Amino acid sequence: MNIAVVGCGYVGLVSGTCLAALGHQVVGIDVDQARVQSLQAGKVPIYEPGLSEMILQQTAAHRLSFTTDMATAVQNSQVIFVAVGTPPAPEGGYNLTMLFDAVEQIIKAANEPKTIVIKSTVPPGTGEKVAAQAATAPHRLEVVNNPEFLREGTAIHDFMNPDRIVFGAGTAEGIGALREIYQPLIDRGFNILSMSRASAELSKFGANAMLAMRISFINEISRLASAVGADIESVRMGIGSDPRIGPAFLKAGIGYGGSCFPKDVAALVHQMQTLKIEPHLLSGIEQANRHQREHFVQGILRVLEGRKDPQIALWGLAFKPDTDDIRESPAIEIARMLAAAGCIVRAFDPEAMANTRRLLGDTIIYAPDVPQATAGADAVVLATDWSVFITQNWPTIKAMMRGVHVFDGRNCLASGKVSAAGLHYYAVGRTPVPPGSTRHGSVGVVVAG
Ligand code: UDX
Repeated sequence: MNIAVVGCGYVGLVSGTCLAALGHQVVGIDVDQARVQSLQAGKVPIYEPGLSEMILQQTAAHRLSFTTDMATAVQNSQVIFVAVGTPPAPEGGYNLTMLFDAVEQIIKAANEPKTIVIKSTVPPGTGEKVAAQAATAPHRLEVVNNPEFLREGTAIHDFMNPDRIVFGAGTAEGIGALREIYQPLIDRGFNILSMSRASAELSKFGANAMLAMRISFINEISRLASAVGADIESVRMGIGSDPRIGPAFLKAGIGYGGSCFPKDVAALVHQMQTLKIEPHLLSGIEQANRHQREHFVQGILRVLEGRKDPQIALWGLAFKPDTDDIRESPAIEIARMLAAAGCIVRAFDPEAMANTRRLLGDTIIYAPDVPQATAGADAVVLATDWSVFITQNWPTIKAMMRGVHVFDGRNCLASGKVSAAGLHYYAVGRTPVPPGSTRHGSVGVVVAG
Protein backbone atom coordinates (compact mmCIF):
# COMPACT_ATOMS: atom_id res chain seq x y z
CA MET A 1 0.00 0.00 0.00
CA ASN A 2 1.18 3.59 -0.57
CA ILE A 3 1.56 5.31 2.78
CA ALA A 4 2.61 8.83 3.73
CA VAL A 5 3.93 9.57 7.23
CA VAL A 6 3.71 13.20 8.29
CA GLY A 7 6.48 14.04 10.75
CA CYS A 8 9.98 12.53 10.64
CA GLY A 9 10.55 12.70 14.40
CA TYR A 10 11.02 9.68 16.59
CA VAL A 11 7.60 8.07 16.18
CA GLY A 12 7.28 8.96 12.48
CA LEU A 13 10.71 7.62 11.55
CA VAL A 14 10.38 4.37 13.45
CA SER A 15 6.81 3.74 12.26
CA GLY A 16 7.50 4.72 8.63
CA THR A 17 10.65 2.61 8.41
CA CYS A 18 8.94 -0.41 9.96
CA LEU A 19 5.93 -0.02 7.63
CA ALA A 20 8.36 -0.05 4.68
CA ALA A 21 9.96 -3.19 6.13
CA LEU A 22 6.47 -4.77 6.18
CA GLY A 23 6.46 -4.28 2.39
CA HIS A 24 4.64 -0.96 1.96
CA GLN A 25 5.68 1.99 -0.16
CA VAL A 26 6.35 4.75 2.38
CA VAL A 27 7.16 8.43 2.02
CA GLY A 28 8.18 10.41 5.11
CA ILE A 29 7.22 14.09 5.09
CA ASP A 30 8.72 16.84 7.20
CA VAL A 31 8.64 20.65 7.08
CA ASP A 32 12.28 20.77 8.20
CA GLN A 33 14.22 20.83 4.94
CA ALA A 34 17.59 20.20 6.61
CA ARG A 35 16.17 17.10 8.33
CA VAL A 36 14.73 15.77 5.06
CA GLN A 37 18.00 16.41 3.22
CA SER A 38 20.02 14.61 5.86
CA LEU A 39 17.60 11.65 5.78
CA GLN A 40 17.85 11.57 1.99
CA ALA A 41 21.63 11.44 2.41
CA GLY A 42 21.25 8.48 4.78
CA LYS A 43 21.98 10.44 7.97
CA VAL A 44 19.52 9.75 10.79
CA PRO A 45 19.01 12.65 13.21
CA ILE A 46 18.08 10.50 16.24
CA TYR A 47 19.75 7.63 18.05
CA GLU A 48 17.76 4.42 18.09
CA PRO A 49 19.51 1.07 17.90
CA GLY A 50 19.11 -0.49 14.43
CA LEU A 51 17.18 2.41 12.93
CA SER A 52 19.93 3.89 10.71
CA GLU A 53 20.70 0.50 9.19
CA MET A 54 17.02 -0.18 8.57
CA ILE A 55 16.46 3.22 6.94
CA LEU A 56 19.43 2.60 4.63
CA GLN A 57 18.08 -0.85 3.72
CA GLN A 58 14.58 0.40 3.01
CA THR A 59 15.71 3.43 0.98
CA ALA A 60 18.07 1.20 -1.04
CA ALA A 61 15.11 -1.11 -1.71
CA HIS A 62 13.13 1.96 -2.93
CA ARG A 63 10.38 1.35 -0.37
CA LEU A 64 11.20 4.42 1.73
CA SER A 65 11.81 8.04 0.70
CA PHE A 66 11.63 11.49 2.28
CA THR A 67 10.20 14.77 1.06
CA THR A 68 9.03 18.22 2.10
CA ASP A 69 6.34 18.16 -0.60
CA MET A 70 3.30 17.27 1.46
CA ALA A 71 0.67 17.78 -1.25
CA THR A 72 2.25 15.36 -3.75
CA ALA A 73 3.00 12.78 -1.07
CA VAL A 74 -0.62 12.92 0.20
CA GLN A 75 -2.04 12.65 -3.32
CA ASN A 76 0.07 9.56 -4.03
CA SER A 77 -0.92 7.78 -0.80
CA GLN A 78 -4.06 5.92 0.26
CA VAL A 79 -3.28 6.21 3.96
CA ILE A 80 -1.62 9.13 5.74
CA PHE A 81 -0.14 8.57 9.18
CA VAL A 82 0.17 11.73 11.27
CA ALA A 83 3.11 11.52 13.64
CA VAL A 84 3.80 15.19 14.36
CA GLY A 85 4.88 16.43 17.78
CA THR A 86 2.26 17.11 20.44
CA PRO A 87 4.33 19.06 23.00
CA PRO A 88 2.99 20.00 26.42
CA ALA A 89 1.00 23.25 26.39
CA PRO A 90 2.01 25.98 28.87
CA GLU A 91 -1.53 26.02 30.32
CA GLY A 92 -1.44 22.22 30.80
CA GLY A 93 -2.41 19.38 28.48
CA TYR A 94 -1.10 19.10 24.95
CA ASN A 95 -0.43 21.63 22.22
CA LEU A 96 -2.22 20.07 19.25
CA THR A 97 -1.58 22.89 16.75
CA MET A 98 0.81 20.85 14.62
CA LEU A 99 -1.67 17.97 14.46
CA PHE A 100 -4.60 20.12 13.34
CA ASP A 101 -2.35 22.00 10.86
CA ALA A 102 -1.20 18.71 9.34
CA VAL A 103 -4.81 17.53 8.99
CA GLU A 104 -5.73 20.85 7.37
CA GLN A 105 -3.00 20.37 4.78
CA ILE A 106 -4.13 16.79 4.12
CA ILE A 107 -7.69 18.07 3.58
CA LYS A 108 -6.41 20.64 1.06
CA ALA A 109 -4.22 18.15 -0.81
CA ALA A 110 -6.56 15.12 -0.85
CA ASN A 111 -7.85 14.50 -4.38
CA GLU A 112 -9.85 11.35 -3.52
CA PRO A 113 -11.07 9.43 -0.41
CA LYS A 114 -8.23 8.54 1.99
CA THR A 115 -7.61 7.38 5.53
CA ILE A 116 -5.90 9.54 8.14
CA VAL A 117 -4.22 7.59 10.94
CA ILE A 118 -3.40 9.51 14.12
CA LYS A 119 -0.14 8.09 15.42
CA SER A 120 0.83 11.04 17.62
CA THR A 121 -0.14 10.69 21.26
CA VAL A 122 -3.28 12.75 21.74
CA PRO A 123 -5.62 13.25 24.70
CA PRO A 124 -8.91 11.35 24.67
CA GLY A 125 -11.43 13.20 22.52
CA THR A 126 -8.91 14.48 19.95
CA GLY A 127 -9.78 11.84 17.32
CA GLU A 128 -13.38 13.02 17.30
CA LYS A 129 -12.22 16.62 16.78
CA VAL A 130 -10.00 15.53 13.88
CA ALA A 131 -12.91 13.56 12.42
CA ALA A 132 -15.09 16.70 12.56
CA GLN A 133 -12.30 18.65 10.87
CA ALA A 134 -11.92 15.94 8.19
CA ALA A 135 -15.67 15.96 7.56
CA THR A 136 -15.25 19.41 5.96
CA ALA A 137 -13.10 17.90 3.16
CA PRO A 138 -14.60 17.54 -0.33
CA HIS A 139 -13.58 13.85 -0.36
CA ARG A 140 -14.34 11.32 2.34
CA LEU A 141 -11.49 11.10 4.85
CA GLU A 142 -11.64 8.29 7.43
CA VAL A 143 -9.97 9.07 10.75
CA VAL A 144 -8.46 6.25 12.79
CA ASN A 145 -6.41 6.32 16.00
CA ASN A 146 -3.56 3.87 16.08
CA PRO A 147 -1.53 4.70 19.21
CA GLU A 148 2.07 3.55 19.45
CA PHE A 149 3.45 1.69 22.44
CA LEU A 150 7.11 1.91 21.42
CA ARG A 151 9.85 2.13 24.01
CA GLU A 152 12.92 4.09 23.07
CA GLY A 153 15.89 1.79 22.66
CA THR A 154 13.73 -1.16 21.61
CA ALA A 155 11.33 0.67 19.31
CA ILE A 156 11.90 -1.46 16.20
CA HIS A 157 11.45 -4.69 18.11
CA ASP A 158 8.31 -3.26 19.77
CA PHE A 159 6.82 -2.22 16.40
CA MET A 160 7.52 -5.60 14.81
CA ASN A 161 6.42 -7.61 17.88
CA PRO A 162 3.51 -5.65 19.34
CA ASP A 163 1.68 -6.82 22.48
CA ARG A 164 -1.38 -5.40 20.81
CA ILE A 165 -2.23 -3.23 17.81
CA VAL A 166 -4.99 -0.83 18.77
CA PHE A 167 -7.39 0.48 16.14
CA GLY A 168 -9.66 3.29 17.21
CA ALA A 169 -11.95 3.76 14.26
CA GLY A 170 -15.24 5.39 13.63
CA THR A 171 -16.10 3.12 10.69
CA ALA A 172 -15.45 -0.32 9.14
CA GLU A 173 -13.65 1.35 6.20
CA GLY A 174 -11.12 2.89 8.57
CA ILE A 175 -10.47 -0.46 10.21
CA GLY A 176 -10.20 -2.15 6.79
CA ALA A 177 -7.34 0.08 5.65
CA LEU A 178 -5.40 -0.45 8.87
CA ARG A 179 -5.98 -4.19 8.76
CA GLU A 180 -4.46 -4.31 5.29
CA ILE A 181 -1.43 -2.36 6.47
CA TYR A 182 -0.81 -4.57 9.50
CA GLN A 183 -1.72 -7.85 7.72
CA PRO A 184 1.90 -9.16 7.86
CA LEU A 185 1.81 -8.79 11.66
CA ILE A 186 -1.73 -10.17 11.91
CA ASP A 187 -0.52 -13.23 9.93
CA ARG A 188 2.20 -13.73 12.53
CA GLY A 189 -0.50 -13.93 15.21
CA PHE A 190 -0.25 -10.48 16.79
CA ASN A 191 -3.42 -9.16 18.40
CA ILE A 192 -5.67 -6.48 16.99
CA LEU A 193 -7.90 -4.64 19.43
CA SER A 194 -10.60 -2.71 17.68
CA MET A 195 -12.41 -0.01 19.63
CA SER A 196 -13.74 3.53 19.51
CA ARG A 197 -11.38 6.45 18.94
CA ALA A 198 -11.67 7.75 22.51
CA SER A 199 -11.10 4.25 23.90
CA ALA A 200 -7.94 3.87 21.80
CA GLU A 201 -6.67 7.23 22.99
CA LEU A 202 -7.41 6.45 26.62
CA SER A 203 -5.82 2.99 26.31
CA LYS A 204 -2.53 4.63 25.42
CA PHE A 205 -2.70 7.15 28.27
CA GLY A 206 -3.98 4.57 30.70
CA ALA A 207 -1.10 2.18 29.89
CA ASN A 208 1.53 4.87 30.37
CA ALA A 209 -0.05 6.20 33.56
CA MET A 210 -0.28 2.65 34.96
CA LEU A 211 3.41 1.99 34.26
CA ALA A 212 4.40 5.36 35.74
CA MET A 213 2.24 4.55 38.78
CA ARG A 214 4.06 1.26 39.34
CA ILE A 215 7.41 3.07 39.29
CA SER A 216 6.22 5.74 41.72
CA PHE A 217 4.69 3.06 43.90
CA ILE A 218 7.89 1.05 44.25
CA ASN A 219 9.90 4.23 44.75
CA GLU A 220 7.65 5.27 47.59
CA ILE A 221 7.92 1.81 49.14
CA SER A 222 11.72 2.07 48.74
CA ARG A 223 11.72 5.05 51.12
CA LEU A 224 9.95 2.93 53.71
CA ALA A 225 12.33 0.03 53.00
CA SER A 226 15.30 2.28 53.85
CA ALA A 227 13.61 3.47 57.01
CA VAL A 228 12.82 -0.02 58.36
CA GLY A 229 15.96 -1.79 57.10
CA ALA A 230 14.18 -3.81 54.39
CA ASP A 231 15.79 -4.41 51.01
CA ILE A 232 13.71 -3.10 48.10
CA GLU A 233 15.17 -5.64 45.66
CA SER A 234 13.91 -8.49 47.87
CA VAL A 235 10.61 -6.68 48.38
CA ARG A 236 10.26 -6.29 44.61
CA MET A 237 10.54 -10.06 44.23
CA GLY A 238 8.16 -10.56 47.13
CA ILE A 239 5.59 -8.33 45.48
CA GLY A 240 6.22 -9.07 41.80
CA SER A 241 6.15 -12.87 42.16
CA ASP A 242 2.38 -12.64 42.50
CA PRO A 243 1.23 -13.32 38.92
CA ARG A 244 -1.52 -10.76 39.41
CA ILE A 245 1.20 -8.15 39.88
CA GLY A 246 4.30 -9.30 37.96
CA PRO A 247 7.83 -7.89 38.31
CA ALA A 248 7.94 -5.47 35.33
CA PHE A 249 8.19 -1.73 35.96
CA LEU A 250 8.77 -2.24 39.65
CA LYS A 251 12.43 -1.29 39.63
CA ALA A 252 13.16 1.33 42.26
CA GLY A 253 15.49 4.16 41.33
CA ILE A 254 15.58 7.88 40.76
CA GLY A 255 12.22 7.90 39.01
CA TYR A 256 10.94 7.93 35.45
CA GLY A 257 11.67 10.44 32.70
CA GLY A 258 11.39 10.55 28.93
CA SER A 259 9.02 12.00 26.41
CA CYS A 260 5.98 9.96 27.44
CA PHE A 261 5.39 9.21 31.11
CA PRO A 262 5.85 12.73 32.55
CA LYS A 263 3.89 14.40 29.75
CA ASP A 264 1.10 11.83 29.63
CA VAL A 265 0.52 11.70 33.38
CA ALA A 266 0.47 15.52 33.51
CA ALA A 267 -1.95 15.66 30.57
CA LEU A 268 -4.31 13.17 32.19
CA VAL A 269 -4.28 15.16 35.43
CA HIS A 270 -4.99 18.33 33.45
CA GLN A 271 -7.82 16.76 31.45
CA MET A 272 -9.47 15.33 34.54
CA GLN A 273 -9.24 18.66 36.34
CA THR A 274 -10.75 20.37 33.30
CA LEU A 275 -13.62 17.88 33.44
CA LYS A 276 -13.95 18.45 37.23
CA ILE A 277 -12.88 14.88 38.06
CA GLU A 278 -10.48 14.90 41.00
CA PRO A 279 -7.28 13.02 39.98
CA HIS A 280 -6.43 11.84 43.52
CA LEU A 281 -4.15 9.00 42.48
CA LEU A 282 -2.74 10.47 39.27
CA SER A 283 -1.47 13.67 40.90
CA GLY A 284 0.33 11.52 43.46
CA ILE A 285 2.29 9.73 40.69
CA GLU A 286 3.90 12.99 39.58
CA GLN A 287 4.63 14.18 43.10
CA ALA A 288 6.25 10.91 44.14
CA ASN A 289 8.41 10.97 41.01
CA ARG A 290 9.67 14.47 41.72
CA HIS A 291 10.36 13.73 45.39
CA GLN A 292 12.34 10.63 44.53
CA ARG A 293 15.15 12.48 42.78
CA GLU A 294 15.19 15.25 45.41
CA HIS A 295 15.45 12.64 48.13
CA PHE A 296 18.32 10.92 46.28
CA VAL A 297 20.27 14.19 45.95
CA GLN A 298 19.70 15.03 49.63
CA GLY A 299 21.23 11.66 50.51
CA ILE A 300 24.34 12.43 48.42
CA LEU A 301 24.75 15.88 49.93
CA ARG A 302 24.38 14.48 53.45
CA VAL A 303 27.20 12.01 52.88
CA LEU A 304 29.45 14.67 51.32
CA GLU A 305 28.67 17.31 53.95
CA GLY A 306 31.78 19.18 55.08
CA ARG A 307 33.72 18.33 51.92
CA LYS A 308 34.94 21.55 50.24
CA ASP A 309 34.08 21.76 46.50
CA PRO A 310 32.79 18.20 46.31
CA GLN A 311 33.55 16.57 42.97
CA ILE A 312 30.92 14.31 41.48
CA ALA A 313 31.40 11.87 38.62
CA LEU A 314 27.93 11.72 37.10
CA TRP A 315 27.51 8.51 35.12
CA GLY A 316 24.62 8.87 32.70
CA LEU A 317 22.47 11.73 31.47
CA ALA A 318 19.90 10.05 29.19
CA PHE A 319 16.54 9.21 30.77
CA LYS A 320 17.35 5.53 30.24
CA PRO A 321 20.06 3.53 28.44
CA ASP A 322 20.35 3.07 24.65
CA THR A 323 19.05 6.50 23.79
CA ASP A 324 20.39 10.05 23.48
CA ASP A 325 17.08 11.41 24.80
CA ILE A 326 17.36 13.65 27.85
CA ARG A 327 13.77 14.89 27.89
CA GLU A 328 12.58 15.02 31.53
CA SER A 329 15.60 12.88 32.41
CA PRO A 330 16.01 12.49 36.19
CA ALA A 331 19.78 12.48 35.54
CA ILE A 332 19.60 16.02 34.20
CA GLU A 333 17.62 17.20 37.23
CA ILE A 334 20.18 15.54 39.49
CA ALA A 335 23.02 17.31 37.62
CA ARG A 336 21.21 20.62 38.09
CA MET A 337 20.53 20.07 41.78
CA LEU A 338 24.08 18.95 42.55
CA ALA A 339 25.59 21.90 40.62
CA ALA A 340 23.21 24.30 42.39
CA ALA A 341 24.34 22.87 45.73
CA GLY A 342 27.96 23.79 44.89
CA CYS A 343 29.22 20.44 43.62
CA ILE A 344 31.59 20.22 40.66
CA VAL A 345 29.79 17.81 38.35
CA ARG A 346 31.80 15.94 35.69
CA ALA A 347 29.39 13.97 33.54
CA PHE A 348 29.70 11.26 30.95
CA ASP A 349 27.02 9.56 28.87
CA PRO A 350 27.69 7.34 25.84
CA GLU A 351 25.12 9.14 23.65
CA ALA A 352 23.54 12.12 25.39
CA MET A 353 26.50 14.52 25.72
CA ALA A 354 25.61 16.84 22.84
CA ASN A 355 21.97 17.16 23.88
CA THR A 356 22.98 17.86 27.48
CA ARG A 357 25.54 20.48 26.51
CA ARG A 358 22.81 22.31 24.60
CA LEU A 359 20.57 22.27 27.65
CA LEU A 360 22.93 22.79 30.59
CA GLY A 361 25.75 24.77 28.94
CA ASP A 362 28.78 25.24 31.19
CA THR A 363 27.00 24.57 34.49
CA ILE A 364 28.64 21.13 34.50
CA ILE A 365 31.83 19.65 32.99
CA TYR A 366 31.58 17.21 30.07
CA ALA A 367 33.99 14.28 30.18
CA PRO A 368 34.78 12.25 27.05
CA ASP A 369 34.74 8.89 28.87
CA VAL A 370 34.25 7.16 32.23
CA PRO A 371 37.86 7.55 33.47
CA GLN A 372 37.95 11.29 32.78
CA ALA A 373 34.60 11.79 34.51
CA THR A 374 35.78 9.76 37.49
CA ALA A 375 39.37 10.88 38.09
CA GLY A 376 39.57 12.80 41.37
CA ALA A 377 35.88 12.39 42.21
CA ASP A 378 34.62 12.24 45.78
CA ALA A 379 31.62 10.29 44.64
CA VAL A 380 30.35 8.39 41.63
CA VAL A 381 26.65 8.99 41.00
CA LEU A 382 25.11 6.51 38.57
CA ALA A 383 21.99 8.02 37.05
CA THR A 384 21.43 5.94 33.89
CA ASP A 385 21.88 2.17 33.77
CA TRP A 386 24.02 1.94 30.61
CA SER A 387 25.85 -1.41 30.45
CA VAL A 388 29.20 0.42 30.15
CA PHE A 389 28.74 1.57 33.75
CA ILE A 390 27.59 -1.80 35.06
CA THR A 391 30.65 -3.58 33.67
CA GLN A 392 33.30 -1.25 35.13
CA ASN A 393 36.27 -2.66 36.99
CA TRP A 394 35.83 -1.38 40.53
CA PRO A 395 39.41 -1.58 41.78
CA THR A 396 40.39 0.59 38.76
CA ILE A 397 37.60 3.06 39.53
CA LYS A 398 38.64 3.22 43.20
CA ALA A 399 42.25 3.95 42.21
CA MET A 400 41.10 6.97 40.16
CA MET A 401 38.88 8.52 42.81
CA ARG A 402 39.79 10.78 45.68
CA GLY A 403 36.72 9.76 47.72
CA VAL A 404 35.07 6.40 48.35
CA HIS A 405 31.36 6.91 47.69
CA VAL A 406 29.26 5.27 44.98
CA PHE A 407 25.57 6.20 44.68
CA ASP A 408 23.63 3.80 42.49
CA GLY A 409 20.47 5.59 41.37
CA ARG A 410 19.29 2.58 39.36
CA ASN A 411 20.10 -0.31 41.73
CA CYS A 412 22.02 -1.93 38.91
CA LEU A 413 25.54 -2.36 40.28
CA ALA A 414 26.84 -5.44 42.09
CA SER A 415 27.18 -4.06 45.59
CA GLY A 416 29.61 -6.82 46.60
CA LYS A 417 32.07 -5.92 43.84
CA VAL A 418 31.86 -2.20 44.64
CA SER A 419 32.43 -2.65 48.37
CA ALA A 420 35.13 -5.31 47.84
CA ALA A 421 37.08 -2.63 45.94
CA GLY A 422 37.09 -0.51 49.09
CA LEU A 423 34.19 1.73 48.13
CA HIS A 424 31.08 2.68 50.09
CA TYR A 425 27.96 1.62 48.17
CA TYR A 426 24.60 3.40 48.45
CA ALA A 427 21.52 2.32 46.51
CA VAL A 428 17.81 3.19 46.53
CA GLY A 429 15.80 1.42 49.22
CA ARG A 430 18.74 -0.73 50.31
CA THR A 431 21.00 -0.53 53.35
CA PRO A 432 24.32 1.13 52.44
CA VAL A 433 27.22 -1.31 52.16
CA PRO A 434 30.49 -0.13 53.73
CA PRO A 435 33.86 -0.80 52.07
CA GLY A 436 34.96 -4.42 52.29
CA SER A 437 31.54 -5.80 53.22
CA THR A 438 29.46 -8.17 51.08
CA ARG A 439 26.16 -7.52 52.84
CA HIS A 440 23.01 -7.68 50.64
CA GLY A 441 25.12 -8.98 47.70
CA SER A 442 22.44 -10.67 45.61
CA VAL A 443 18.76 -11.34 45.90
CA GLY A 444 18.19 -15.04 45.62
CA VAL A 445 15.39 -17.53 45.46
CA VAL A 446 15.69 -20.22 48.10
CA VAL A 447 14.46 -23.55 46.84
CA ALA A 448 13.14 -25.77 49.61
CA GLY A 449 13.74 -29.51 49.59
C1 UDX B 1 7.30 4.44 27.52
C2 UDX B 1 6.39 3.21 27.39
O1 UDX B 1 7.08 2.07 27.96
C3 UDX B 1 6.02 2.98 25.94
O2 UDX B 1 5.12 1.87 25.85
C4 UDX B 1 5.35 4.25 25.41
O3 UDX B 1 5.02 4.09 24.06
C5 UDX B 1 6.26 5.44 25.58
O4 UDX B 1 6.64 5.57 26.95
P1 UDX B 1 9.87 5.00 27.07
O5 UDX B 1 9.53 6.40 27.49
O6 UDX B 1 10.71 4.79 25.86
O7 UDX B 1 8.52 4.17 26.82
O8 UDX B 1 10.66 4.33 28.29
P2 UDX B 1 10.47 3.14 29.32
O9 UDX B 1 11.39 2.03 28.97
O10 UDX B 1 9.06 2.79 29.52
O11 UDX B 1 11.05 3.83 30.65
C6 UDX B 1 10.50 5.07 31.14
C7 UDX B 1 11.23 5.55 32.36
O12 UDX B 1 10.91 4.76 33.50
C8 UDX B 1 12.75 5.54 32.27
O13 UDX B 1 13.26 6.72 32.82
C9 UDX B 1 13.16 4.31 33.08
O14 UDX B 1 14.45 4.42 33.59
C10 UDX B 1 12.10 4.35 34.17
N1 UDX B 1 11.83 3.03 34.80
C11 UDX B 1 11.33 2.02 34.05
C12 UDX B 1 12.03 2.86 36.16
O15 UDX B 1 12.46 3.77 36.87
N2 UDX B 1 11.72 1.66 36.73
C13 UDX B 1 11.22 0.61 36.00
O16 UDX B 1 10.95 -0.45 36.60
C14 UDX B 1 11.02 0.79 34.62
